[in-house]
Amino acid sequence: MTRIEAVIQPSRLETLKNALLVWGVDGLTITEVKGFGRQRGHGEMYRGSEYEIQYRPKLKVEFVVPTSLVPRLLDVVQKAVGTGRIGDGKVFVIPVEDAVRVRTGERGDGIL
Ligand SMILES: Nc1ncnc2c1ncn2[C@@H]1O[C@H](COP(=O)(O)OP(=O)(O)OP(=O)(O)O)[C@@H](O)[C@H]1O
Ligand SMILES: [Mg+2]
Repeated sequence: MTRIEAVIQPSRLETLKNALLVWGVDGLTITEVKGFGRQRGHGEMYRGSEYEIQYRPKLKVEFVVPTSLVPRLLDVVQKAVGTGRIGDGKVFVIPVEDAVRVRTGERGDGIL
């Protein structure tokens, strides 16, 4: 299993969610986060001193999937959230050791 963690522009969430549903992703976790990338937050809507880091609001969207689906889903994510503009986001891919459906005690990628 693999966890895909996408840090995205909040306005892209609905498009991403709809695309992932089509590809059979059955659960998502969303967190409101703040962060900066290469432009230290200045590429988008410049404000304030260039030397100061500006934290920009983003959403972190996490979902765990069978590892075989990762290459396809990375494509899906990029197409769904990409606009070609600075600050579009980043995607991280993280191995997951095991998973449990609490109601039944089932384990492994069958619960995804
Ligand atoms: N190395 C990193 N580790 C953790 N989070 C990161 C990292 N880089 C970026 N992020 C998160 O991703 C968000 C979006 O990053 P962003 O899209 O600006 O990346 P970038 O590398 O600057 O690319 P671009 O040049 O297209 O803006 C940041 O606000 C931050 O929350
Ligand atoms: Mg950036």
